[in-house]
Parts: sequence; C-alpha cells; structure tokens
Amino acid sequence: MKAIEIAPDIFSVMANISNQDLFEGIWPIPQGVSLNSYVVRGEKVALIDLVKDWEHAIEEISEQLGTLGLTLESIDYLIINHMEPDHTGWLKEMKEKNPGLQILCSKKAVPLISAFYGIEDGVTAVGSGDELDLGGKKLLFEDTPNIHWPETMMTYEPESGVLFSCDAFGSFGQVGEHVFDDQLTEEEMSFYESETERYYANIVSTFSAFVERGIKKLAHFDIKLIAPSHGILWRENPKKIIDHYLKLASYKSGPAEKEVTVVWSSMYGNTQQLLDSILSGLESEGVKAHVHRVPQEHVSFVLASAWRSSGIIIGTPTYEYKMFPPMYAVLDVMERSHVLNRKAFRFGSFGWSGGAQKQYEEFIKAMKWDCSGSVEYQGAPTEEDKRRGYDMAVEVAKKVKAWV
Ligand code: FEO
Repeated sequence: MKAIEIAPDIFSVMANISNQDLFEGIWPIPQGVSLNSYVVRGEKVALIDLVKDWEHAIEEISEQLGTLGLTLESIDYLIINHMEPDHTGWLKEMKEKNPGLQILCSKKAVPLISAFYGIEDGVTAVGSGDELDLGGKKLLFEDTPNIHWPETMMTYEPESGVLFSCDAFGSFGQVGEHVFDDQLTEEEMSFYESETERYYANIVSTFSAFVERGIKKLAHFDIKLIAPSHGILWRENPKKIIDHYLKLASYKSGPAEKEVTVVWSSMYGNTQQLLDSILSGLESEGVKAHVHRVPQEHVSFVLASAWRSSGIIIGTPTYEYKMFPPMYAVLDVMERSHVLNRKAFRFGSFGWSGGAQKQYEEFIKAMKWDCSGSVEYQGAPTEEDKRRGYDMAVEVAKKVKAWV
C-alpha cells in the first residue's frame, strides 16, 4: 500500500492487521483491522498517531513514509491523540531511533507516556485552544476525554478541514486501496457500517455520554474530512458518521432499534426447548430478533446486537447453584458496556436447585432493565411454560414497539 494524499500535503499511512489476533486481546477481527497514521507536511513534518509492533505494522508504515521521502527518523513532531498501545506501542523504539522527536499529547497523557514507555524528554502537553505551527500548516487540538481513554484528544487541520479523530468514528475491518467513503460500493459501505457498530459496542459504548459531549465540543470546527485511526475516511459525507455515532450513543439510555436480541445457552437442550415459543412470540408482533447462542458465539457479536436492540431476552440454565458461566460472562460484559434500560425477560431450566435467577436479578438491577418476569422450570418445560414464554416474548415485543 502507498501513502495516500487525502488533502494537500496531508497523507494517510496505514497498516492492515490480519484476523489472526484479537483486538485488545479480547475482540475477534474476522476481517482484520487497520491502524491509520497521518502525515501533515509543512516546513516541519508531523506524524499523527503511531502504531504498535503488530504483524508488519512498523514495516508498512516505514515503507509508506519512504514513498513520501520520509523516514521515522525525519519526523519532527509526533502527535499522540490517544495513549492506548495500538497507537503508541512502538513509541519507545521510535524515540530511540529519533531522539530529537517532539511528542505532543494531552496533559493527562504525559504521565502515561512515562509509565508505559519511560519517556519524559521532549514531551509537551497541549489541549483545547492550543495550536502547533508547522510552517505553512497548522494543527489545532481539542480535548475529547474518554473517546476512548481519559487522555484522548483530537487534532484538526483548519486549511483542509481534516479532523484526526483517533478511535472516534472508527471501525474494525482492513482498508484497501479505496480509503474514502465515496469510493466504496454499497456492499463495502454496508460492511464498514456494520463493523462501525460492532466496534462502537465493543470499544466505545461505555463512554457514550462522552461521545455526545465530545461531538458538541467539535462544533466550532468546519469538518470536511474525518480521518480516524481505524477504518475508512469520511470525505463525501462526514456528517453521516457523526450522526451515526450520535445515534449509537443515544442507545445508552434507550430506546434503541425496535429489535430484540435473544441470547441463549443450553446444557442438555431443556432451556433450548423454549426458544421456538419465544421466537414465535416475537414474530407474531413483527419484531426482528437477533439470536445468539453462547458460548458458541463470541460476546463481541452478542454485544453488537444487544447495543442496537431495545429488548433483550436471556435464556440460561442454572449451573452449580449459579448462572451458566458463559452467560454470566456475557451479562458481565453487557454491564461493563452500559447496555442499560432494556425491555427484558429470562427463561431457563434447572436440575436440583435454581440459582441463575438470583444472579440475573442482580444484573438487571445494575443495568436498570425493565423485566417482564421469568419462566424458570425444573427439567424440561411443560406446555404451560412454553405458553408463558410465548406470552412474555409478545409482551417484550409490544413494549419495544411502544417505546418512543
Ligand atoms: Fe485504537 Fe483506544 O485505541
């Protein structure tokens, strides 16, 4: 891949990571992920965001800098918008190669750079209202805390209107030669929109209130192009991804989409026996269902469905006096990700004693779910249990449809 000029004297340099690893050590990336850095060339040269030593990322970035006649040693300024190691992992080696490198970051990032990489020399704190004059090009900074870590900021180039937004407005998925929204087919755009939602649910959702605040803070910039640090660039319609983010952030308190996520586990098929009744109940109300079985499906995909759904139905048996462990892990991730204020109910089987229900109630209290009740039974469900499951699914579907 070559460096691509995205605006006069502003270039993307990207590393595409394959699907062999997990993002943040937890999230699957079946179509990989891109790590995007950017070069802004005035009389001095700034590199915005770095990469970590992941697959061939360093070689890819170096080669693309080479196509611009640059080397890692010839960069004057490194702008660190966000300290997470996918954007800084190679910082220590970079500073050793280029001891004169000036690092600009937010005030909160300064101690982190010391803690992660032992670097204190040549580090300057910047924030909202500050600017860097490269000679013929200026960079402005805006603190946007918690999109994604507390120290996060964004960088803006006023002449071209390019916003370097780091994690915000990003997605999973590798990026090919076509890096702009207006170069993609409908199918490609649909893929990135879907991976934007999964990325948001997995990485950003906990910080949705900060997303809303951060976007408000950007109002004084005339944004013509959004250049995130993962995924495609938004040139034709930057407002589209901003609006998409605002919509995703609004799901934190509901209503989200008029859809229901059904997450179920079953040890011997007894919990599973209620599934058809529940799906029939949802279908009778014309409500779309996203159905996931755990642990067979990764929580990353469950979370993406749950985030966009106004309703969530949990099917889980009791296992050793408590909730079936893979489902407990899913609900724990949902709680951390602030999947709040959903319409819900639970079904499931137990053998000698219950226990799952107690833990479910703790989760729904923490996440403020409006629960229609539970259908819990010993062993296999009776016809009456199935009828109740159907009725509760209908009730959840009706609540979801009525929620405005
Ligand atoms: Fe792409 Fe929060 O790092």
